[in-house]
Amino acid sequence: MRVISVKDYDEMSEVAGKIIAAQVTVKPDCVLGLATGSTPIGTYKELIKKYKKGEISFAECKTANLDEYFGISPENDQSYAYFMKDNLFSHVDIKPESTNIPNGQNPDAEEECNRYEEVIKKLGGVDLQLLGIGNNGHIGFNEPAEGFSCTTHKVALTESTIDANTRFFASKDLVPKYAYTMGTKTILGAGKILLLASGENKADAIYRMVAGPIEPGMPASILQLHKDAIVIADKKAIRLLEEKAPELITTKMN
Ligand code: PGA
Repeated sequence: MRVISVKDYDEMSEVAGKIIAAQVTVKPDCVLGLATGSTPIGTYKELIKKYKKGEISFAECKTANLDEYFGISPENDQSYAYFMKDNLFSHVDIKPESTNIPNGQNPDAEEECNRYEEVIKKLGGVDLQLLGIGNNGHIGFNEPAEGFSCTTHKVALTESTIDANTRFFASKDLVPKYAYTMGTKTILGAGKILLLASGENKADAIYRMVAGPIEPGMPASILQLHKDAIVIADKKAIRLLEEKAPELITTKMN
């Protein structure tokens, strides 16, 4: 696992934007695994900037998003489908038919999860998967559990994730309680993984993910098994790792 320490959110976004742009440049028809949340917004802004300057094109790219809330329509401004349009897709030249996201409106979980796994398989797998990390160490909506999840599945969100997401909704009872998410095995199938973290509330998760044991109580710890995982964390998010296991930080940009 390569761990890059950066100054702040802006530097994290800039470095991540460069890595994704490099991926798109060397393989214009690559498959990007994308994530939602506050963390990747700056990275998407960097990619939009590069597209507008004519440095990169997404015309041949395909995308597969990590997750989507269950029971929510793509027109709902809290859906991840809406988020992706708003923060990236509508600003670049990606073809709408090249973008994929679980269908939160399909009530048949088995059918939807099989469909989504099939979509990823038909794309030939994900080349680069972008990830955030939950305060509790979740990746996608793979929450701390007794065992690691495998393929795309429907998941009940934990109280801590519902609390963290309440800030986006008018009230806590409006936060969806379930989601469809790529499983841990689906995520680990990506050729490269790029996990971003910013802010003090991620410090414990980053420390345990990088330096702790691989265990399903800390879902992101499984990334230690991936052959090409890059973590970019800012000063606040890397604080505990820096204090307790600085030897695990591979590159310091700040
Ligand atoms: P955040 O969420 O980017 O909004 O902090 C990250 C996550 O839950 O994966």
